[in-house]
Amino acid sequence: MRITIVGCGSIGTKLAKAADEIAEVKRIYLLDMERHLAEDLAAQLKKAIVVDNVDEELYHCDLVIEAASQEAAKQILPTVVSRGVDIMIMSVGSLVDDGFRDMVKEKAAQCESRIFIPSGAVCGTDGLRSSATGRLDEVELITTKGTKSLEGAPYIVEKGIDINSITEPTTIFTGTARDAVRLFPKNVNVAATVSLLGVGFDRTKVTVVLDPNSHSNSHELRVKGEFGEMTCHTYNVPSPDNPKTSHLAALSAISALKRIVRNEWIGI
Ligand SMILES: NC(=O)c1ccc[n+]([C@@H]2O[C@H](COP(=O)([O-])OP(=O)(O)OC[C@H]3O[C@@H](n4cnc5c(N)ncnc54)[C@H](O)[C@@H]3O)[C@@H](O)[C@H]2O)c1
Repeated sequence: MRITIVGCGSIGTKLAKAADEIAEVKRIYLLDMERHLAEDLAAQLKKAIVVDNVDEELYHCDLVIEAASQEAAKQILPTVVSRGVDIMIMSVGSLVDDGFRDMVKEKAAQCESRIFIPSGAVCGTDGLRSSATGRLDEVELITTKGTKSLEGAPYIVEKGIDINSITEPTTIFTGTARDAVRLFPKNVNVAATVSLLGVGFDRTKVTVVLDPNSHSNSHELRVKGEFGEMTCHTYNVPSPDNPKTSHLAALSAISALKRIVRNEWIGI
């Protein structure tokens, strides 16, 4: 299998290093808007070469993995699926626009391309997926993050919230997943994943808590439905190289890649 990794930051770097050790992966094409990041990473790997855009090796590529940004995902999704190439998306918030998502899904179906979305930084997606086959009454995500993880989020900037003056756990946002994904594009991709699996972007309730003493990115997923009730709490270690991103997100991308290349579907 030949893969292209778009984005050589926190997730892309860990994923590329893991892919380099997976026997079934024969070639890794690396792409980053900061070309030197792709070059530095390629120099550390056995199977990697740098490309300038996703089109360059698309004919030779079996799977594109986006680990860059919502903008990058929106840009490459239509191109990749139209060529019938499979794609894995980490910036799941890119799928919040219903018209865009439907267009991409239709193109993917026509061109026999598959879109993979790893569980990312949240646990409990297995139970949510199963329970969504029946009636779901409530899906709620409560995300608690430290000051560094929330720095620069559009919501914080727009509201002029002085996050450094917050000294105790404080709820800073409550609303729909649709709004949360737009207002915290780098923080709550999991809200998009949960929405896609469960009751959609408008019925999924999201609460964002800023806890200045927190050293974890925590996600509490609460689900109620005809199956019963589920609460799943993940206390994530933030990546040292990007505190907005949880280490588990990179691990989920690596695990998804292994499932795809080995065609192993345990616990689906
Ligand atoms: N699904 C999840 O649960 C989950 C969890 C954490 C992060 N994420 C998302 O995954 C993405 C990657 O996260 P990260 O922590 O590795 O980010 P990062 O900032 O550490 O790295 C992103 C890299 O992508 C590059 N990049 C950005 N736009 C690009 C473009 N258009 N073309 C090429 N390269 C581009 C940047 O230069 C950077 O090197 C982010 O969008 C993040 O919000 C998802």
